[in-house]
Formats: sequence, structure tokens, C-alpha cells
Amino acid sequence: MRSFINVEDIGDLKVAVKEALAVKVNRFGYKSLGENKTLLMVFFNSSLRTRLSTQKAAMNLGMNVIVLDVNQGAWKLETERGVIMDGDKSEHLLEAIPVMGSYCDVIGVRSFARFENKQDDYEEKILQQFIRYSGKPVFAMETATVHPLQAFADLITIEEFKKVERPKVVLTWAPHPKALPQAVPNSFAQWMNATDYDFVITHPEGYELDSKFAGNARVEYDQNKALEGADFVYAKNWSAYADPNYGQILSKDMSWTVTTEKMALTNNAFFMHCLPVRRNMIVSDDVIESAQSIVIPEAANREISAQVVLKRILEKL
Ligand code: CP
Repeated sequence: MRSFINVEDIGDLKVAVKEALAVKVNRFGYKSLGENKTLLMVFFNSSLRTRLSTQKAAMNLGMNVIVLDVNQGAWKLETERGVIMDGDKSEHLLEAIPVMGSYCDVIGVRSFARFENKQDDYEEKILQQFIRYSGKPVFAMETATVHPLQAFADLITIEEFKKVERPKVVLTWAPHPKALPQAVPNSFAQWMNATDYDFVITHPEGYELDSKFAGNARVEYDQNKALEGADFVYAKNWSAYADPNYGQILSKDMSWTVTTEKMALTNNAFFMHCLPVRRNMIVSDDVIESAQSIVIPEAANREISAQVVLKRILEKL
């Protein structure tokens, strides 16, 4: 594997999940793979889970790890070519990226959508420059449009908890005070569409995802109807994708919060969220603290998804 961005990069999902479950029971069995290899994780945005789980996965594989928080202690980076750099940005990404590449064997990048220019976000301008100029395998640690390490962990979690072969999985929009990117729902939809699950997306009108990610998933604008018979409820907020409202909040309708009453419509569904989560906006205290909430094992599986991805990258170095 040279890069890890979209679901196609992981190949057969059944094989990938099988490998993940094998890694999970033998996480230190591949320690020689990463010997004398260095992972550089570059963060343009904050993180708790991605940072810790990916570092842990790399250590399980025997790798050395360097973390760069671009906004804390590094030179301010210019990302646009042609700019006269007479402002507060001291270094251009076009020099910084190959320099970073010279210090490591693999690079993980976290760089959220900026909501300044939809085309730049959806062309993954920052990530693509890392792929082009670093000379090293690059994987997404949540970028402008995707969060594949999360989606892979979500898939592993569903496979572990499902009670029927083909569960009904519902991705539901829920309210949030800030405008959030579409990366998590984009990847979740992309990965669920690659399974044979009964996958439904529910959101208020105006929150349609890019069809490249939503694919042929059933969209149901009535949340109650969508939740009927669900085996898994995956809650997430996202801002509008469609023009002219890209990156905007169109609704803060609290009737979309996942409550005990909403969960009662389901087939005793498991509750999922990528975290961090705003309690009593996205989900009620009762639901996230209930026995059906699997947000902690879901987060724990981030170590496993990252380890499979790093393992496969190392195997091809
Ligand atoms: N789910 C997730 O990516 O969490 P962090 O933003 O804390 O890394």
C-alpha cells in the first residue's frame, strides 16, 4: 500500500477485517516490521484519538514516531504558490514537505477542510501536496474530505458487534453549535457502501453529501422512519456540502438529537460516534452512557485500523 485515503486503498474489506481481528489478538507479533523505520505524524488540527492510537499502532510495529503540531512551535506555513511571502508565514509547504519527507519513512497527515474554497477542500490540496512532494507513503489522519482510519475502525466495530449477517446501519445527522467538515460522514458512507449492509443516511434537507461518497445509499429525510429497525445508529454532525451553502450550518434542530426515545424506534441498536461528541446536542447522556453505546470500543479500534494500515505500508517499503 502506497497511500491510504479511500476505501479502495485497503482492497477486499472482508480480508482487511480478518487481518484487523488477527492483529488485535497479536498486536506485538509484527514488531520487527517497523525496526529502524520512522513515522512522522503532521497535525494541522487538534486530535486526541488519532494522535494516540496511531502512535500506539506504530509503536506496536516497532516504529519510531515523530509528531509535528504545525500550529504549535513550527514555522507558519504558506500553502499557496505564487504568494508574495511578506506576511507572517515564514516557510512554504513546497520546501517544508520534502524536508519532512527526508526525516521519515511514512507520513500521516491531519488537515481539515478550511471552508474557504470548496474546490481546494474537495481536491484535497494539502494532502495531495504531501503525496506529490514528500517522496514517502502518505495516509490520511482526517483530511478535508475523508477520515478512512475512522471508517475502518467503525467497520471493524460493526463486524465485532453485529448480531445478523446484514445489519441495518443508519448514519444520522445531529445538531452541533459549530460548522463541521463532511470528512467523517463521507468516509463512513463510502465504507458502508462497500459492504452489503442495509445502509441508510438520514439528515434534514440541504445536508446531502457529495454523491461521490453517498453513492447509492438510501437517503431518508424523516429521522424516525430511518431509525425504525436499525441495528446500528451512527450519529454525526456535518455542515452543508451543496452550493451555495458549502460549509454552513443550516439547522440546529434539537429534535434530531439521539435520545432514548429515538433509540426506542430501533432494533435495540448499538450507538456509535467517532468522538469527540457534544453531549445533549448530538446524543443524550442516557444514550451515550447506556449498555448499547459502543463508542469506547469503537475508539479503541482506532489502534487496530491504524496498525493494519501501517503494517501494510511497511510490508511494501
Ligand atoms: N475520531 C477522531 O478522529 O478523534 P480525534 O479528532 O480526537 O483524533
